[in-house]
Amino acid sequence: MGEITSKTAIIFATNYGTTEKVAEYLAENIVRSKPSIFNVKDVSEIDLSKFDTVILGGSVYLGDIQKEMSDFCAKYTKELLEKKLGLFLCGIEPEMVRQDEELKMAYPKALYNHAQATAFVGGEIHMELLNPSQKFITQTLLGIKTSSSFLQYDLIDIFICQMELNDSKCNICD
Ligand SMILES: Cc1cc2nc3c(=O)[nH]c(=O)nc-3n(C[C@H](O)[C@H](O)[C@H](O)COP(=O)(O)O)c2cc1C
Repeated sequence: MGEITSKTAIIFATNYGTTEKVAEYLAENIVRSKPSIFNVKDVSEIDLSKFDTVILGGSVYLGDIQKEMSDFCAKYTKELLEKKLGLFLCGIEPEMVRQDEELKMAYPKALYNHAQATAFVGGEIHMELLNPSQKFITQTLLGIKTSSSFLQYDLIDIFICQMELNDSKCNICD
């Protein structure tokens, strides 16, 4: 086993569980430290000094990331700029250019520029969990008729490698 050299916090926002699933996958596969996972709703106060690496994740609804994640980024910008930072976003937008735009808009520019890794990792639709207006939006605007998964685990793996760059051990590459 490699020596534990750092502590990682994975902080996520989710409406229907996809981003939490990605956060758990990250935690399982980031081996350089045993990451701690937090739902942003539970961490209005968090002592980030315990962590040298922070990964933030949220999902996009009609172009916007969850307000809780935006508020968290605004509140902790200074501390986050001192960390090794990773940012990911869940969403089902298929066009790469628009995925990039959604990712850039989701996080403050300073954090985006500071991040060691960023990724738009795809998303899922759980039709049975959506209310009627969300179902309507999903079926008409987004063109998805049934529950579907567009999660891109290959991109999540690349994100992990980019975060673990310069560390002695990477679960994905080894
Ligand atoms: C009403 C609604 C609006 C959405 N809008 C977008 C969007 O603008 N762009 C996008 O890429 N994905 C969009 N999505 C897809 C979600 O981001 C996707 O379902 C994601 O996996 C949700 O993650 P969560 O369960 O962690 O919240 C939308 C989904 C719903 C239900």
